[in-house]
Amino acid sequence: MRRNFKRLAIGITLFLLMPLAICFCLSGVESEDELKRSAERMAEVARTTFAPVYPALAKQIVEDTGVKEGICVELGCGPGSLGLALVKITRLRVYAIDINPYAVAIAQRNAVESGLSERFYPMLGDALNLPFKNDFADLIVSRGMIPFVEDKAAVFKEAFRVLRKGGVAYIGGGFSRMLDERTVSEIVRKSIWADPAKLPIRRITKEQWEKHLKDAGIRNYRVIEDRYQSGSYGTWVMFKK
Ligand SMILES: C[S@@+](CC[C@H](N)C(=O)[O-])C[C@H]1O[C@@H](n2cnc3c(N)ncnc32)[C@H](O)[C@@H]1O
Repeated sequence: MRRNFKRLAIGITLFLLMPLAICFCLSGVESEDELKRSAERMAEVARTTFAPVYPALAKQIVEDTGVKEGICVELGCGPGSLGLALVKITRLRVYAIDINPYAVAIAQRNAVESGLSERFYPMLGDALNLPFKNDFADLIVSRGMIPFVEDKAAVFKEAFRVLRKGGVAYIGGGFSRMLDERTVSEIVRKSIWADPAKLPIRRITKEQWEKHLKDAGIRNYRVIEDRYQSGSYGTWVMFKK
């Protein structure tokens, strides 16, 4: 009698928990799907509309930081276009991390296809908890990731920890001043930047960048703001350890 009651209780509990389990499984499938789709979308934009941005930005980073060799860490690499552009014009070895496993897989494929996998290593990782020891990198770069991270100061803190003494970080978003206005206008025309209301993220102001840097305890920095007639921009913070 007692055993039957126990069985009945277990049966009722499982029955009640079933809808929850189904919802959990379905939401897992959905977010997995969304991760895949967003990685593929970014890869497509990087390969087409945004293609001119990465070589130009790589040139700008080398010009502004002066770092051409050693170890580079790229945060939120997506399909790896910036890191690969840096590998092409420097002797840097680039550890490119992204939190989205589908983006990492695409970056790996791009590295092999471009014949640059000997100096470009995509890895799964979180910019808030980097899988690197202190004083590891000569250069840390990131394009377009920061707006998607809530705790921006934590990203700066973590980047500072991983930089070696004398190393430089170049973190931000947007285009490059090495592109001419016509190219930028063309990119904007073809992308969601044509309608700022549709951008998934808000532009970060200079004051906000500075606040996040100060919150991270970083005092020695430069904010680089490139503006174009089209209204688009590139904003980067550069700091040295
Ligand atoms: C707009 S995409 C930019 C991709 C690439 N940097 C580019 O410019 O083509 C932003 C990327 O940041 C990644 N990301 C977001 N939060 C992250 C985090 N906490 N750590 C590592 N990557 C992150 C996303 O998965 C996505 O691939």
